[in-house]
Amino acid sequence: MPFNRSIKIAPSILAADFANFGAECRAIEAQGADWVHVDVMDGHFVPNLTFGPAMCAALRPHIKGVMDVHLMIAPVDPYLEAFASAGADIITAHVEAGPHIHRTLQAIRGLGKKAGVALNPGTPVEAVADLLDMVDMVCVMTVNPGFGGQSFLSGQLAKIARLRSLIGDCPVHIEVDGGVTVETAPLVAKAGADALVAGSAVFKGGSVADPGGYGVNIRAIRAAAEAAIG
Ligand code: DX5
Ligand code: ZN
Repeated sequence: MPFNRSIKIAPSILAADFANFGAECRAIEAQGADWVHVDVMDGHFVPNLTFGPAMCAALRPHIKGVMDVHLMIAPVDPYLEAFASAGADIITAHVEAGPHIHRTLQAIRGLGKKAGVALNPGTPVEAVADLLDMVDMVCVMTVNPGFGGQSFLSGQLAKIARLRSLIGDCPVHIEVDGGVTVETAPLVAKAGADALVAGSAVFKGGSVADPGGYGVNIRAIRAAAEAAIG
């Protein structure tokens, strides 16, 4: 996964048809998705329950590109090996998930995976300022994690811009997650984000039987973001 800062669209399958995940993953990749975003929720760190490593392993054969696994679980460390062997390419842990994020990031890289660290809306960028040489990505939550379809928190734009200046030329992606649409994509791109997670905005108006709508949405979000950064 060579590093580049071009705009990447990562549809979140939280908004997909749960009964058809394999076909949904193939459909969004065929329609232009750069990464497939998989939201893992434990009903403890966030007030919702989704899926675990077994689901990621089942998805792997249906994802040709990057499986971007977002762990909204606490604790994290006991599950890292399972997600790594399930085929995750990027494993992102929340800085708020426990007292030992440094050890968690070391472990993710030790498993040969790309390491991501995520920040809840209430957590300042400074929480990861000294971790930037240990990560491949920082995920800025632009909603309070736990559900798709929520409204974008515009108050996070200043945080993205501060993070972008902190990162400078380091090969670290800025991912934004939550409430990304054709309207908000230009704002986050201008602030410095390059990886845009989008669930409801990609999956609305399309289906496995008629995936063209996914492509229209992915292209529109990408075009809006790219237009903002020229
Ligand atoms: C929320 C998840 C997001 C969510 C995004 O906790 O981390 O990935 O699925 O969905 P939308 O784009 O609908 O806000
Ligand atoms: Zn997510």
